[in-house]
Amino acid sequence: MRHLLSTRDLDLADAIRLLDVAEDMATVSTREVKKLPALRGKTVVNLFFENSTRTRISFEAAAKRLSADVINFSASGSSVAKGESLKDTAQTLAAMGADAVVLRHPSSGAPQSLADSGWIDAGVINAGDGTHEHPTQALLDAFTIRRRMHGAASRGTNLSGVAVTIVGDILHSRVARSNVWLLTTLGAQVTLVAPPTLMPVNMTAWPVEVEYDLDRSLLRTPPSVLMMLRVQAERMSGDFFPNTREYSRRWGLDDERLGRLPEDTIVMHPGPMNRGLEISAAAADSARSTVREQVTNGVSVRMAALYLLLAGERLSPPTPTSRMRATT
Ligand code: NCD
Repeated sequence: MRHLLSTRDLDLADAIRLLDVAEDMATVSTREVKKLPALRGKTVVNLFFENSTRTRISFEAAAKRLSADVINFSASGSSVAKGESLKDTAQTLAAMGADAVVLRHPSSGAPQSLADSGWIDAGVINAGDGTHEHPTQALLDAFTIRRRMHGAASRGTNLSGVAVTIVGDILHSRVARSNVWLLTTLGAQVTLVAPPTLMPVNMTAWPVEVEYDLDRSLLRTPPSVLMMLRVQAERMSGDFFPNTREYSRRWGLDDERLGRLPEDTIVMHPGPMNRGLEISAAAADSARSTVREQVTNGVSVRMAALYLLLAGERLSPPTPTSRMRATT
């Protein structure tokens, strides 16, 4: 695997391979010494042009647990704030010998451009690009679902028979997009629920059911997994719904809806949460909620991605399958 840019071009074998390596990494994370020497001497740069808390520290923890050197580079406070382009920044990082660049950028497609550019000969991991994709978030979500469903017997399994309902601001959500591709590749059945104004216009290529009424959807397709999305006010230029009370009454997971869910339905949220808007405090903190597991699992999944990008060719086990080849 040369880059990890989207889940749309991950096939089933690649996806299961990543999740299985993440299982190995999770075992390391439960040890007293949570460290492997696999990436000693490698340099990972976290290049963040957009705010982030958990994704950036998760990648940092993942790289450090694999013994890589980590450079954190945020756009604010750097020359990017002075107008430096992605090209100049990339060339600076290349001159410093970066082996992998973890890129978060407000423009959809920026990680692909960096990977295709020739400005830098490093593996590129997309850590969220505009409203396009956020592949490691979807991988950690799939990993979390698989563990809740199959427990210790997760290795090698897919998600067939799992019904996932994703609710909220689909229009602006790179998390939803990456999950749609990955979860359906893994065999899950995906339903998207949103107000009409927050649903993308042309969804003919999306392998999903679309619903606008949350209660009807919950009745029609009782979910194994209910994934609530953040209302991304920073990406909205106008009014997409009448007011926040109306939104949470119709599309939020409030206490009343929480009480109506099938007994074994799990509740997910990628964070950061707007408590009281898309999810109630009781739902976020309930035993069904996987919010904290998602954060823990994020480190294992990002270790797996960095490992397969940077060490996969020279170390065994684990080694990459022949299908985890260059995407360029
Ligand atoms: C998501 C993101 O940045 O796309 N958050 C995250 O990575 N944990 C989702 C969000 O911001 O709502």
